[in-house]
Amino acid sequence: MQHYKIAAIPADGIGPEVIAAGLQALEALERREGTFKLDVTMFDWGSDHYKKHGVMMPADGPDRLKGFDAIFFGAVGAPDVPDHITLWGLRLPICQGFDQYANVRPTKVLPGIASPLAGVGPGDLDWVIVRENSEGEYSGIGGRAHRGHPEEVGTEVAIFTRTGVTRIMRYAFKLAQSRPRKLLTVVTKSNAQRHGMVMWDEIAAEVAQEFPDVTWDKMLVDAMTARMTLKPRSLDTIVATNLHADILSDLAGALAGSLGVAPTANIDPERRYPSMFEPIHGSAFDITGKGIANPVATFWTAAQMLAHLGEAAAAARLMQAVEAVTGAGILTPDVGGKATTQEVTDVVCEAIRRSN
Ligand code: NAI
Ligand code: MG
Repeated sequence: MQHYKIAAIPADGIGPEVIAAGLQALEALERREGTFKLDVTMFDWGSDHYKKHGVMMPADGPDRLKGFDAIFFGAVGAPDVPDHITLWGLRLPICQGFDQYANVRPTKVLPGIASPLAGVGPGDLDWVIVRENSEGEYSGIGGRAHRGHPEEVGTEVAIFTRTGVTRIMRYAFKLAQSRPRKLLTVVTKSNAQRHGMVMWDEIAAEVAQEFPDVTWDKMLVDAMTARMTLKPRSLDTIVATNLHADILSDLAGALAGSLGVAPTANIDPERRYPSMFEPIHGSAFDITGKGIANPVATFWTAAQMLAHLGEAAAAARLMQAVEAVTGAGILTPDVGGKATTQEVTDVVCEAIRRSN
């Protein structure tokens, strides 16, 4: 029996609701497969911890996470705590401290879920966005001067390193190579941003030579929004900077029907540290406590986690169960249904139990 140590950090808003759902599905899989066991440790870090102790997680938080095989994360953000505190106090220190430089965001139109794009159904939109997750526009370099005065300045400096760009490019080409279409689109803004972004383009061309069987092209990020909307079938694997991919992946989630179905994995490809798996969405104050949060994004990221741990069969079983349930029209309100989080979770668990 294979044992995996999982750190669960539900955190804020609907985070605890969707993580509870995800853990139920994982337990059902554990029983169905009978070949592995997840030893889950819960951490009560987040905005409530901040209000009590002045920090989102204890100073030794990252040290306590180091020995785990994976981190299963909900969402951070509270109406009465500034977003930069919640984000920089918990999620980003984990991503950056554990050098989870590849943020992998699959998107597809699931059966039973309508894309807002006319004529686009399952199979027409099936992408993986690879977001550079360690540098770029979110490196945290910058400052403020003359605060509150008319001459106040704020700088936010984007950092691109040859090491950082090369490793994410290699990850993206490798991922594209592993998918049937072997197709990669490299997104930049190298017309207006003529330093880091031009380097990005040059490194893409260099790394491409290592992957002669991958077809690749370049897009400027603004034109990319139009291509995603108008020609979704022309795309497969996509790589972009931290900021650009952040924006494009929200668009991707919306085009696939809802943010509530979009998963993400923060991966350390070298496996020096635990990787972190989370739904893309935030803490969704507007629906917190109503019991209607869509758990599908969390199920999907749980499947990403299982695949990363080497449990590909369990990951596939989970996604088959999810697609059977969405296909049967058992959906939360964000995707046009009437079901609650618990109802969707129960039928997914039932589908796992009954699967061959
Ligand atoms: P959000 O993703 O929390 O919500 C945006 C909209 O999508 C809301 O109408 C919400 O109800 C809906 N939605 C999101 N997830 C859903 C789900 N699973 N099921 C059904 N509907 C869902 O983004 P918003 O409102 O901009 O941010 C709220 C808070 O979350 C902020 O504090 C923000 O900083 C934080 N946030 C945290 C993230 C993270 O922890 N990774 C990511 C994005 C935002
Ligand atoms: Mg985002």
